[in-house]
Amino acid sequence: MRQPAILILLGPPGAGKGTQARLLEERYGLVQLSTGDMLREAVAAGSPAGLAAKTAMEAGGLVCDEIVLSVLEERLNASESREGVILDGFPRTLGQAEALALLLRKRDQKLASVISLEVDDEAMIDRVSGRYSCASCGEGYHDRHKYPATAGVCDGCGGATFKRRPDDKADTLRERLVAYHAQTAPLIGYYEGQGLLARIDAMQDIASVQEAMARIMAPITV
Ligand code: AP5
Repeated sequence: MRQPAILILLGPPGAGKGTQARLLEERYGLVQLSTGDMLREAVAAGSPAGLAAKTAMEAGGLVCDEIVLSVLEERLNASESREGVILDGFPRTLGQAEALALLLRKRDQKLASVISLEVDDEAMIDRVSGRYSCASCGEGYHDRHKYPATAGVCDGCGGATFKRRPDDKADTLRERLVAYHAQTAPLIGYYEGQGLLARIDAMQDIASVQEAMARIMAPITV
């Protein structure tokens, strides 16, 4: 029987990891596991992990590996997808990548592919500064690139309340970019060395990026 596919989406803030992960969920029945979403839930719940994560997130830095690994492992264990999972925004440090390798070995699972979404920094700033989402279902939109079909009404659930992320402010965004280049970008070479890396030009529109994803997914989902 085919093993569940484990995919990693790598990329700077605004590269489109969340957008593409949700499309992969719909198309292939994979489950999106976003450490950013998990940490925001922990912050909102006021849990000990959330309280510890809040300061780093508000400053645009990375949350410590120990906390991230604990929330990720819990969600990975609870995930029941037979088709597999998309790790969106994890790993982000070499320590997390090594911990993931160990975790997958214990579970007798292997990474199917690591997809690097490549965008330039200016495009990233445009994308992140313009985005917002439905406060009820989380469907994402953008001031200039993706609108609801009816203005002010969510396509997904019909909700009429929308929100923006506090860490999408310009100064925090710059810190998130610094963290990406210093701590996460080295993982591109790390996974390339393992023969697992696929690069996608994520400056293309959303549909074209998804088609490039589909070409990578083809041998994985047969
Ligand atoms: P996280 O929530 O993961 O944020 P991020 O990596 O900064 O990524 P984003 O969610 O901002 O962007 P995205 O790539 O998903 O783009 P999206 O699809 O939304 O992490 C937040 C924080 O949590 C971190 O800063 C850190 O503090 C902490 N954290 C999380 N994981 C951690 C970890 N593993 N270790 C330590 N700390 C961790 O798209 C952006 C916008 O662009 C949208 O409006 C979208 O509609 C639009 N768009 C998407 N694709 C396109 C396209 N091709 N063309 C035009 N517009 C597009």
